[in-house]
Amino acid sequence: GSVRPRPAAWWRAPHERTRLLELARHGTPRYAYHLPTVIERARQLQAIAAVDRRYYAIKANSHPAILRALAAEGFGLECVSQGEVERVFDAVPGFDPARVLFTPSFAPIGEYETAFARGITVTVDNVELLRRWPGVFRGRALWLRIDLGHGDGHHAKVNTGGKASKFGLSAQRVEEFVEAARALDVRITGVHAHLGSGIDNSAHWKVVVDELAGFARRIGSVEVIDIGGGLPIAYSDDDEPFDLDAWATGLAAIKILHPAFKLAIEPGRFLVAEAGVLLTHATQVIEKDGVQRVGLDAGMNALIRPALYDAWHDIANLSQLDAACDVDFDVVGPICESSDVFGQRVKLPATTVPGDVMLVADAGAYGFCMSNAYNLRALPAEDVLE
Ligand code: LLP
Repeated sequence: GSVRPRPAAWWRAPHERTRLLELARHGTPRYAYHLPTVIERARQLQAIAAVDRRYYAIKANSHPAILRALAAEGFGLECVSQGEVERVFDAVPGFDPARVLFTPSFAPIGEYETAFARGITVTVDNVELLRRWPGVFRGRALWLRIDLGHGDGHHAKVNTGGKASKFGLSAQRVEEFVEAARALDVRITGVHAHLGSGIDNSAHWKVVVDELAGFARRIGSVEVIDIGGGLPIAYSDDDEPFDLDAWATGLAAIKILHPAFKLAIEPGRFLVAEAGVLLTHATQVIEKDGVQRVGLDAGMNALIRPALYDAWHDIANLSQLDAACDVDFDVVGPICESSDVFGQRVKLPATTVPGDVMLVADAGAYGFCMSNAYNLRALPAEDVLE
């Protein structure tokens, strides 16, 4: 168990549970997003004085209602593809392009051209772009994404720093980039690093600010230091809850040393993970060779995180929420892959039966947006709870 207990999840409140059971009657699998939780997280970040600019990484969950809510809370929106940029302007009519940040990786050059033409801030992570397409970049202001040579995150597959990573300009080549930029009259107005997702190493942030500030001073024209996303959430009672106050205090202390720069962040998970649940029905309950399994009508196609990262998501029997969870079940989906497992040794009521509504918790980030139609299973539905 963790030192500081997690607060009770929103969906445990009796009226929320009733609303979710009602939604499940319209068919499952379906995601439900609790907007008050998104707004609460947004306001927690807005209250951090050391941070000057906040972007939401829409890749985590690009539901239009969530984009509108976060735009209304004053967040900029960070996009990684032209599709995400289109989503922003479709979902939030009249959104100021100056509040959009475009952070692509190996994207087609046309996506950079379109972003510049729209007045969006573009983050560039290699010098080859400037060399091959000088006309696209000449005279522009842009941000530079640097690989600081170290990464972090909840799993090797979400670590975006260091030699093995495709992301960011090698720190050794910053001088070379600055030369190429100068030759094209390109102004570097921001430096950026996003070194992983679900970072629970509290020492990470000071190092990133310090190292980026070092580059910013040498480059000269930099106004903004963007330390990326990566704020963690506690997915289980064994995870240490993220200490936002300590994080804010740490940022304030380090920022004092670098007063010339504005500090930007671009979290995804922190804002939306806990707001989302995946509703699903139990399909079959089977014992095989001493292992009890409960099958769900949602599989790894609906929520891929357990299969891809061995990620843990709490699972509850929403139809029997007050029953004792006293039996270990393996919770599996209907997909024809051995990795189609949501969790092993999940404590659930012994009385769990086919037809029960099951809830997969903390699924608001990297849930629906990573879903797919493998085995020709339908994509999950989505609902928003105001
Ligand atoms: N900024 C950049 C440039 C990013 O690449 C990402 C996430 C973020 C911000 C937001 O990171 P966050 O605050 O959400 O950690 N699918 C994985 C996570 C992949 C993250 C990709 N980049 C998962 O489900 O754990």
